This record gives sequence, structure tokens and C-alpha cells, in this order.
Amino acid sequence: MTDIVDAESLSPKRAQAHALPGATHQTSVYVYEAPVRLWHWINAAAILVLALTGFFIGRPLPTMPGEASANFLMGYIRFTHFTAGYILAIGFLFRFYWSFVGNFHAKQLFRLPLNDPEWRKEVLFELRWYLFLEKRPKKYVGHNPLAQVAMFIFMTLGLTFMIVTGFALYAEGSQRGSWQDMLFGWVIPLVGQSYDVHTLHRLGMWFILTFIIIHIYVAIREDIMSRQSIVSTMISGDRTFKDDDPD
Ligand code: HEM
Repeated sequence: MTDIVDAESLSPKRAQAHALPGATHQTSVYVYEAPVRLWHWINAAAILVLALTGFFIGRPLPTMPGEASANFLMGYIRFTHFTAGYILAIGFLFRFYWSFVGNFHAKQLFRLPLNDPEWRKEVLFELRWYLFLEKRPKKYVGHNPLAQVAMFIFMTLGLTFMIVTGFALYAEGSQRGSWQDMLFGWVIPLVGQSYDVHTLHRLGMWFILTFIIIHIYVAIREDIMSRQSIVSTMISGDRTFKDDDPD
């Protein structure tokens, strides 16, 4: 019989970074709530669409056949980019809200326990594990500490940067007095000129794509090498463990 454990019943520290004592291959912990999983996959799809369309906004196709007035390709590409941009931004705001009302793990993306020395030690342990310098991985209920740091830097800070620079560029089109201009109109003057914000927004894409390549590699690698479920947890929400060792 599978032993179902409520993540809320674990002490915060344990839920955050440590395995359950006695977690066996029959233990199942509900970690990622439905809104977190839904956001994860919608966010992934939005980033894919934004990167593809953004690439062509910055490097448009050299030419289109036929009469110019019959073509609206760049219009469609930009429209798709902006739609995905709105989905990304609204999703991110919702995800931030969920970090207040969701379970302990929902908070991990927005709060790093930097003042916890044990957690800091485990960041280094995980780094060694990923570099093949540790023989045996630890079991984690939520994100492992290194994954948490990476998510914070690349997703929390990275997406905030993309949303702020994206809406600053959008404000140029929606013009003075629009809400985009009122909220983000300060960005271009602060940076200097529109072209520089374009360049930073584009650099931000490569920053995020670098993370996504590492993220997919690590998720598949850990699914195989770690002592717990990884990919299926972001589908079902449940963390399961592969062995019966307590430590
Ligand atoms: C992960 C998220 C995003 C990625 C990867 C991304 C990617 C890109 C790229 C590569 C460009 C071309 C930059 C250049 O070389 O000039 C671009 C342009 C642009 N993006 Fe994004 N973007 C993202 C989010 C957003 C968001 C949230 C918005 C807000 C609506 C947005 C609005 C814009 C605008 C207005 C432009 C300029 C369009 C133009 O000049 O025709 N982007 N984006």
C-alpha cells in the first residue's frame, strides 16, 4: 500500500531540503499543487513561443514573395509574441500570488533561505553531486537547494527582467499615457535608448534559453540518477522515492 504524506505536515526545514526519515519506495508526498504544475507547463509553452517569435523579430526573414500589401508576416509574428508575453506576465503574477496562498513548496521559487547554514552547505553538496564529485545523492521532497538557487536566478529574476524590458518596448507602440507607458516608461530613459533595451531583452532570451537547456538536462539526468521521481512529479504532483534507506 502507498503511504501518502501531506507536505504541510512536515516541519518547514524538512519539507524544504531534506528527505523524509524512513521514506521508502512506497512513500508518496504531494509536493506540487495543481496551479503550480499548470503554471509550469503554460510558462514553458509561452517561453518557447516567445523565443521563436522573438528570434525573428530581432532577425527578420530576409524577404517575402509577392506584393508587400498582401503580406502581414511580421505583424502575425509580433502579435503572437505579444499574446504569449501577456500570458507569461499574467501567469507569473498569478504564480507570485500562489506563493502566498499555496503550500510550502510553492514559496520556494520566490524565497531563498540564505540565512540557513545547513541549506547553504547543501547547495555546495548538490553542486558537487552535479559535477560527479559525490557518490550518493540526497533525497529531497521539494527542489534541492541548488535547483532552488537556479530557479530563483533564471526564472524569478530572469522572467521579471524579460517582463519589465518587454513591456517597456511594448510601451513605445502603445504610446504615452498607456498603462504600459505609465508602469514601464521609465526603463528606456534609464537604459539610454530603445536599441539598448532591445539588445538587453535579446540577451535575456539567451540567458533564459541557457537555463532551459540545463533544466531539461538536469531533470532527465536526475530522473535516472537521483533517488526520487522528478519529471513525473511535475505532472502528477507526487514525489515518490526509489529506495528504502532512511538517510
Ligand atoms: C521569456 C520571455 C521573452 C523572450 C524570450 C523574448 C524574446 C524577444 C526577442 C529575442 C526580441 C527581439 C529583440 C531584438 O533583437 O530587437 C523581442 C522583442 C520584443 N519583445 Fe520579447 N521576449 C520575452 C518576453 C516579452 C514580454 C513579456 C513582452 C511584453 C509584451 C515582450 C515584448 C516584446 C516587444 C514589444 C518586442 C519588440 C518588438 C519589435 O520591436 O517589433 N517580450 N522579444
